[in-house]
Amino acid sequence: AGGGEQHIEDFQFSFEGPFGTYDQNQLQRGLQVYTEVCAACHGLKYVPLRTLGDEGGIGWTDEQVRAYASETFSVYDPELEDDRPAIPTDHFPANTGAGAPDLSLMAKARAGFHGPYGTGVNQLVRGMGGPEYIFSILTGYEDPPACAPEEMDGYYNVAFAPGGYPDECKIFDDEGVEIGRKAPGSWISMAPPISDEQVEFADGHANDLHHMSADVSAFLMWAAEPKMMARKQAGLVGVIFLTILASMLYLTNKRLWAPHK
Ligand code: HEM
Repeated sequence: AGGGEQHIEDFQFSFEGPFGTYDQNQLQRGLQVYTEVCAACHGLKYVPLRTLGDEGGIGWTDEQVRAYASETFSVYDPELEDDRPAIPTDHFPANTGAGAPDLSLMAKARAGFHGPYGTGVNQLVRGMGGPEYIFSILTGYEDPPACAPEEMDGYYNVAFAPGGYPDECKIFDDEGVEIGRKAPGSWISMAPPISDEQVEFADGHANDLHHMSADVSAFLMWAAEPKMMARKQAGLVGVIFLTILASMLYLTNKRLWAPHK
């Protein structure tokens, strides 16, 4: 590859396409990965804990939501002037300690597909690629390219574009203007967060790096767009309604004009 591009893998998620739906089991596994791994550094401050009970998403019962909230997070309560266990009306806590970005909207803030030539036409076919982007970051750690010096800050990742990049791997023209790069991606400050078998799922589901990355990416897509299924359903009803309306108007028009032809 080269050219300073990102390597984004096109992953087939269950929620893609006009009829796609979230896979509830996958979202629950993704939540577990988020809780056990990502939450150590990242927050989800725009996501209310109560939405874990929403239909079409994680789908937990009230008791499950309440237990998760109070056992997992504590929040500062200005009225008590002290910390207390979280309740469903609280949001997931923010987490800025490690300088990691909030993940609430990450799956919508980043696009995985930009081309061809930056036109974004690919997105019509494959979707925006937000969850693919997250998946590709998590699975995109590789050995640094041979051109890179030893002492680079961060970790080489083929999917991460905006990070540090050594001059040694850039290609310059005679005037010293950068015209290309020898290796894709860049150096990210997040250490590889997940590795095989790091999280143990209660149902014994596969927990290798790829499966867990897909699960947590799906979960973060849900976090960024919890009403996706309702939106798709409303769209479908709209299209069916307009199709019927259009055919009736066509027939009415034919009938009205028939005597005059
Ligand atoms: C950045 C996901 C765990 C620290 C990021 C980015 C994503 C992400 C998508 C942003 C890339 C961008 O800005 O485009 C995740 C997921 C995790 C996880 C899904 C769990 C599986 C962690 C952990 C730490 C961490 C455990 C701390 C030890 C960071 C930092 C950045 C970052 C510091 C900023 C990197 C930079 O801009 O160079 N993470 N992360 N992350 N993450 Fe994580």
